[in-house]
Amino acid sequence: MSSAGGVRRLLVRDLAQLATPRGREAPLRGAALGDVDFVEDAYVLCRDATIEAVGRMRELEPLAGEVEELDGRGLCAVPGLVDCHTHACFAGDRVEEFALRAAGASYEELHAAGRGIMATVSATRAAGEAALAEAVRTHRAWMLRAGTTTFESKSGYGLDRDTELASLRAIRDAGGVPTWLGAHAVPSEFDDADAYLDFALAEVLPEAAELAEAADVFLERGAFDVSQARRYLEVCSAAGLELRLHGDQFTEQGAVGLAVELGARSIDHLEATGAAGVATLAESDVVAVLLPASALFLGRPMPPARALVDAGAAVALATDFNPGSAFCESLPLVCSLAATQLKLSPAEALAACTVNAAHVLGRAGHAGRIAPGFAADLVLLDAPDWRHLAYHLGGDVVDQVVVSGVPAELP
Ligand code: NIG
Ligand code: FE
Repeated sequence: MSSAGGVRRLLVRDLAQLATPRGREAPLRGAALGDVDFVEDAYVLCRDATIEAVGRMRELEPLAGEVEELDGRGLCAVPGLVDCHTHACFAGDRVEEFALRAAGASYEELHAAGRGIMATVSATRAAGEAALAEAVRTHRAWMLRAGTTTFESKSGYGLDRDTELASLRAIRDAGGVPTWLGAHAVPSEFDDADAYLDFALAEVLPEAAELAEAADVFLERGAFDVSQARRYLEVCSAAGLELRLHGDQFTEQGAVGLAVELGARSIDHLEATGAAGVATLAESDVVAVLLPASALFLGRPMPPARALVDAGAAVALATDFNPGSAFCESLPLVCSLAATQLKLSPAEALAACTVNAAHVLGRAGHAGRIAPGFAADLVLLDAPDWRHLAYHLGGDVVDQVVVSGVPAELP
């Protein structure tokens, strides 16, 4: 509904509660990570794609002109969730591998045997650009249903020029924030990781840098080592990309030191990080992106979340949505795991998958808070208390989602 001036206004009214990370700073660390602004009997007024005002119903002034209303009775509002780490551009599935893992095979063994990531690379290369675009749109719809209004997605299942670039375009066209995961695995047509990186940096990076906002590398035994990761990231940085790393997923290989040395936006996983890595991250501006759904899915130890937060590190949460190590698009489920497995409070979990995740994506001035001037992206929870976001383990807690000031049609 638009007023005569063409301005669209949406009033979300009579909300049981509204919860949003406090202040305007990003990223939030230490005690500030758990500081939530909390309003009972609340409203949010959106003007086009931006939040205009937030407050208590009893303080709401009469509004002139046309205003669409959304009834928030019995619902709690939190900011639209931000998923800063997904691999949403893939074809096929890995349910066969999932069954093998259930019977005892390990993820790393399957990867070494050419299954794992390389199985998805084969399916993704064969899919074609239209099918890939459709796959990302499908995965985006799943994420939206779970309350994600801003998502990052990596490429990394093409590992050839055309499929990597098609993946980045598909992610961008679906409204995602594209990350070039050019160093995910070494495809079999190359003799070794260095030969593959020669190709990727010379033939793919120039166009990938036009499409992506960041570059990412899988620094792990059986993938890329620290010197290969340094080379890849330095060249990507020189091409204008922000830097991210998959590090310390199974073993510590120097990923934390490299992330800090290169001024990366984030290091993600950290299931294997020890005390020294925690201390190094706490002293740095690199965000520790924790992926408890991935640790759970692979039966791996959880990352040292409590130690990171208590030491003062900037921590974010994400799904790691992908077909192999985390077939999970739900940030509410991740918030549950954050509370039960990582020992974060619901308030810390909320900040970690809103403002801090937005910071990882360079969008903390725009997304991740319910405050005037921020994007009008909201999640309305069907719950009497906003902490049900984390409390309801695997429940259907998301009732409605507002994206850019418009109530979304949920799949
Ligand atoms: O973040 N560890 C590397 N990459 C992904 C998994 C990719 C896959 O298994 O397909 C991850 O866990
Ligand atoms: Fe990942």
